[in-house]
Amino acid sequence: MPRILVVDDEAGVQASLRMLLKNDCEVATAASVDEALRSIAEAPPDLILLDLVMPGRGGLDLLAEISEQPSSPPVVVLTATKTVSSAVEAMKRGAVDYVTKPFEVESLRIKVRQLLERRALEHEVARLRARVEGQERLGDLLGRSEPMQEVFHTLRRVAVARATVLIRGESGTGKELAAHAIHDLSPRRERPFVAVNCAAIPETLIESELFGHERGAFTDAVDRRIGRFEAASGGTLFFDEIGELSSGVQAKLLRALQERRIERVGSTRTIDVDVRVIAATNRDLDREVAERRFREDLYYRINVVPVALPPLRERREDVRLLASHFFERSRAEAGRPGLELASEVIAALERYPWPGNVRELENAIEHAVALCEGDVVRLDDLPQAVVRAGRIEDLRQAVHAGRLGFEQASADFERELLLEALERTGWNQTRTAEQLRVTRRALKLKMDRYGLKPPA
Ligand SMILES: Nc1ncnc2c1ncn2[C@@H]1O[C@H](COP(=O)(O)OP(=O)(O)OP(=O)(O)O)[C@@H](O)[C@H]1O
Ligand SMILES: [Mg+2]
Repeated sequence: MPRILVVDDEAGVQASLRMLLKNDCEVATAASVDEALRSIAEAPPDLILLDLVMPGRGGLDLLAEISEQPSSPPVVVLTATKTVSSAVEAMKRGAVDYVTKPFEVESLRIKVRQLLERRALEHEVARLRARVEGQERLGDLLGRSEPMQEVFHTLRRVAVARATVLIRGESGTGKELAAHAIHDLSPRRERPFVAVNCAAIPETLIESELFGHERGAFTDAVDRRIGRFEAASGGTLFFDEIGELSSGVQAKLLRALQERRIERVGSTRTIDVDVRVIAATNRDLDREVAERRFREDLYYRINVVPVALPPLRERREDVRLLASHFFERSRAEAGRPGLELASEVIAALERYPWPGNVRELENAIEHAVALCEGDVVRLDDLPQAVVRAGRIEDLRQAVHAGRLGFEQASADFERELLLEALERTGWNQTRTAEQLRVTRRALKLKMDRYGLKPPA
């Protein structure tokens, strides 16, 4: 049942409003501004009926305080006929309506009902919006495609457990974001998230980085130092690019994970560690195991819950969402809030295969925003590779839609292909001819036919 708060110092008014409204809603009362504020804090009402003239602070003060709060309830002012001018003042300050005392019973009832209905609708819209937005993002990961929805579902489920997660995916698919999302949704979110980039730490240092060292453990160990395992205590330890670890370090890591205990380099004392492990790789770990570059036992230890991030070309429905997100961010950072994206740009982005996945898309948008001179980002502001893929795809679609004849489309296609090959070799005709498996003479003839000349 909706809740109404009546704020009036006259007991008679409180009682009659309670009588009038008690069938439609729950009625709370307050005789002063302070009492009203306490009541609002305790149980926020859906509507406030507010007397303006009360001993102590008046109704306008209350109005000022609650209109500061987000999603504050609507306020209807109660006023004696002779003070209608102050009711007008109240409406300027955010009250939605006023009624004059003594009330016209039926009209008050209708007003209240309408306001409560509107309030309920606003709540419903907010709830639906939160649900839709919640579905299209998990932490900083965005995605509305079916494969990403499945990933979100898995990430949500594993976050609450302690199980080790192995995240796979091509470069730029969001593995690092996924690791962060798991941590942020987990009961460990208040504890540290510590990342170890296994590809970036030199082999000679990695052991002391992971496990720490005692003073004098080796030449450069002038001080005692704790490692990443201890730094992540109670939290999450993220092994990025785990496929890059040498076999020696793999063995030590396996021991630490099995025993949940470590020893600092140069010490024999064992230290219990409580960390949740997440690993990521863009290598094909099954093959690494088959070819004996990655320990099978360590593989099983970390691959408890596998999560595979799909390449962007397999979820083109996400391109528009991601592009809009990166575009909004880029134009805000560039201080150009009026900048727009031409619709042909979105179409080209949706067709390009994105070998570098989301990272490549992010870079392409930033590139386009930086280069764009007008108010609208156009196709030519995008990186060459994207533009070209867009043109070839345009041809294909034009033929199938009957807008372009086969002969013309084939000639245009030939021209695009030649141009692309020439650009790739820096207009080196010998190399281009080799690559296209035609003679230099044939290449020259075609270049002349299409009027292709090296840029001046
Ligand atoms: N689903 C996504 N939603 C929003 N941004 C994303 C998404 N996926 C990736 N990104 C962005 O793309 C970039 C690459 O993401 P991330 O570093 O997580 O990828 P990765 O898989 O770890 O790549 P690599 O294998 O090269 O390390 C980041 O800037 C990240 O913010
Ligand atoms: Mg990464």
